[in-house]
Amino acid sequence: MLPFATDRLIVRNWRDADRPLFHEINSDEAVMAFFPFRRDRAGADELMDRLAAAIDRDGYGFAALELRATGECIGFTGIQKAGLSPPFAPDMVEIGWRLARRHWGKGYACEAARAWLDRGFDRLGLDEIVAFAVAGNDRSTAVMRRLGMRPDPARDFDHPRIPDGRPDLKRHVFYALAREDFRPSAA
Ligand SMILES: CC(C)(COP(=O)(O)OP(=O)(O)OC[C@H]1O[C@@H](n2cnc3c(N)ncnc32)[C@H](O)[C@@H]1OP(=O)(O)O)[C@@H](O)C(=O)NCCC(=O)NCCS
Repeated sequence: MLPFATDRLIVRNWRDADRPLFHEINSDEAVMAFFPFRRDRAGADELMDRLAAAIDRDGYGFAALELRATGECIGFTGIQKAGLSPPFAPDMVEIGWRLARRHWGKGYACEAARAWLDRGFDRLGLDEIVAFAVAGNDRSTAVMRRLGMRPDPARDFDHPRIPDGRPDLKRHVFYALAREDFRPSAA
């Protein structure tokens, strides 16, 4: 499934040259405001290796975004199995995003996400793609709404991987998009 192009982006697997950017987005206070941890370079490298291996294995995942105009890597958007079973089904697929601060506010996360939704529904045949964020992460839930995803408060949950010592980051709001509601042209 990778690489693919959108109007302004190449969506592709990770490369060694992306490692400084990947470390930047995983250690920047603004980008990581709703996460309980920051990654040093070794921790960021380890995560990037895991994301890259998952893409090699599955053909999809949290993939690098590259600006077509400059070749610059700006962060990631992708779909992956959420790995939250229980309480959710083992095959539940989430969509997610994380961009370097200087690349917010340009529509890049949404542009890549629309292409991923298209592939998730049409090529992978998924019935539903979900997204979740810390309650209060309004920039992320704004992306979900722009994509036509709908809040599903009945599935809001306390994230099991957030340490109990961070109750402020524990509660997550849940959004979902069903295949029949996906309209790329209207998103
Ligand atoms: C969440 C995140 C990816 C959103 O990035 P974003 O750039 O705001 O998202 P979008 O791609 O939807 O861009 C929409 C914005 O671009 C603007 N925009 C500019 N040009 C645009 C274009 N050509 N097309 C669409 N939108 C455009 C929109 O007006 C909107 O700006 P606004 O927020 O001022 O209203 C980013 O804030 C981020 O990386 N946050 C930290 C990591 C994080 O929390 N991830 C989610 C964890 S659940």
